[in-house]
Amino acid sequence: MSAGNIPKHVAVIMDGNGRWARKRGLPRVLGHRKGVRVLEKTVENADAAGVKYLSVYAFSTENWKRSEMEVAGLMILFERYIKKKVGPLKARHGRIRFAGRRDRLPDSLINTIEEAEESTKNEPGIQLIICVDYGGRQEIADAVKKIIASGTAPEAVTEETLSAHMYLPDVPEPDLIIRTSGEERLSNFWLWTAAYSELFFTDALWPDFGREEFEAALASYAGRQRRKGGRIEEQ
Ligand code: IPE
Ligand code: IPE
Ligand code: MG
Repeated sequence: MSAGNIPKHVAVIMDGNGRWARKRGLPRVLGHRKGVRVLEKTVENADAAGVKYLSVYAFSTENWKRSEMEVAGLMILFERYIKKKVGPLKARHGRIRFAGRRDRLPDSLINTIEEAEESTKNEPGIQLIICVDYGGRQEIADAVKKIIASGTAPEAVTEETLSAHMYLPDVPEPDLIIRTSGEERLSNFWLWTAAYSELFFTDALWPDFGREEFEAALASYAGRQRRKGGRIEEQ
């Protein structure tokens, strides 16, 4: 695979933890726990492949609808994962960032997020972007609020104005969005920046998503023509 065909930004909808656990008669939280281990490996695989930005959908603005027990279990897991992974990520010069609302998360998780961002902010390597309490519609609504608050005249608002007010305006648009577990939808992920992302769906459940599946996604991406509305002249 030539380096030119490696996606700069890979986004992953990590779905199927619940079904993975149910198939084994285990509580859902164990599926989430296995999912976290797969995330650790995926960061390594992405970095080794030359991916510069890996964004992962960990908790949506709609996931609050789940049971209190599942939500609380996930919040604890996020905090533990971040605390454990900041060191190793920093050791490979990686940076950790977050996208999403911060006003509904437990205080201890917010502190952990802020510390992790601060301690890796100057790292030049792969950027791991964890989307927690993230919703694409919420991100757009938040951008509009910021634009109105800045006093921008309506006729001055362009697509670029919106782009500049998204959560992480410096992060390039996702080139490839992978969704596991056989579901073929975005479920409110990266709506604004996903306009021309390539989509890759696999039946593998997230806890079973390994290096082979990741490479299959990259290989599929490498064979695609990204026209973005234009034409690619016949050779
Ligand atoms: C994805 O796995 C993780 C989160 C949404 C937090 P699910 O928990 O949605 O797994 P399924 O879809 O029930 O199998
Ligand atoms: C999408 O998965 C959100 C995350 C992976 C965090 P869901 O399981 O919440 O999505 P739906 O309900 O199948 O659309
Ligand atoms: Mg799901």
